Amino acid sequence: MAVVSVLSLKGGVGKTSVVLGLAGAATVRGLATLVVDLDPQGNATSLLKSHKTRTTVADVLGHPTRETVESALTPCDWEVAPGEVDVLPGHANTIRFDAWTGGPWRPKLARALGHLDGYDLVLIDCPPSLGALTREALAASDLALVVTTPSYFGAQGVERAMAEIDEVRKNHNRDLQLAGIVVNRVRSVAEEHQYREHELVEIYGRSTVMKPLMPERIAVQQAEGYGQPVQLVKTAGGREVADIYGTYLTKLLKAAR
Ligand SMILES: Nc1ncnc2c1ncn2[C@@H]1O[C@H](COP(=O)(O)OP(=O)(O)O)[C@@H](O)[C@H]1O
Ligand SMILES: [Mg+2]
Repeated sequence: MAVVSVLSLKGGVGKTSVVLGLAGAATVRGLATLVVDLDPQGNATSLLKSHKTRTTVADVLGHPTRETVESALTPCDWEVAPGEVDVLPGHANTIRFDAWTGGPWRPKLARALGHLDGYDLVLIDCPPSLGALTREALAASDLALVVTTPSYFGAQGVERAMAEIDEVRKNHNRDLQLAGIVVNRVRSVAEEHQYREHELVEIYGRSTVMKPLMPERIAVQQAEGYGQPVQLVKTAGGREVADIYGTYLTKLLKAAR
């Protein structure tokens, strides 16, 4: 079971799109996949689930037992053969777990996920901040995937995310590896975007920046609108994005081995 946190300093950079794109790519390969929605805004949950569930990840964080986590798991309403995606649904109350208490901290999500088996891939959609919830995600993960847009503040956000990954590796999860940086919403005609890509490659190395870069494509928004994985958007843009997620997934699975 490979556990991957998808994180960023900010909202709106594409974490949820990356989680859903990878989940779609995983189902195409027939992998048993779980999406954990740690964002109190619950966007991944609304995109994957049409019905409200009684138990959510907020209950799991409050009480990380096998019973709670198993009762919170629910199949998604996406129908993509031959695999399927399960969801550990998010909830607004999750925000309670984002505050620092100051005292000693014991990872709760890691404990809860430790009760699970039978999944090939677990994708954790992090909240748009680097607080206690993102730390929960990183402490529970084998791999960290940082998402950014090709912008000045995006590059700053990557630096902060890297520091957080190092901190969690040092103090809570020695096995945590950086899987890479996804540069999302790239416009190939924009010189500024190329400049930011080169900057990230220079600082973090060529193999850390995920290739190909993820272009800005309306298919990503159409997939959201239709409540479907982008793999089912049969346009040139949809196929392009789906292919790139396939490439990213291969890299992640290799790194997790
Ligand atoms: N590659 C892309 N091309 C076009 N739109 C995108 C792309 N990636 C994300 N978006 C859009 O940007 C918005 C924010 O993305 P989202 O995944 O919700 O970000 P986050 O989870 O980091 O807050 C969404 O409306 C999404 O459809
Ligand atoms: Mg999101």
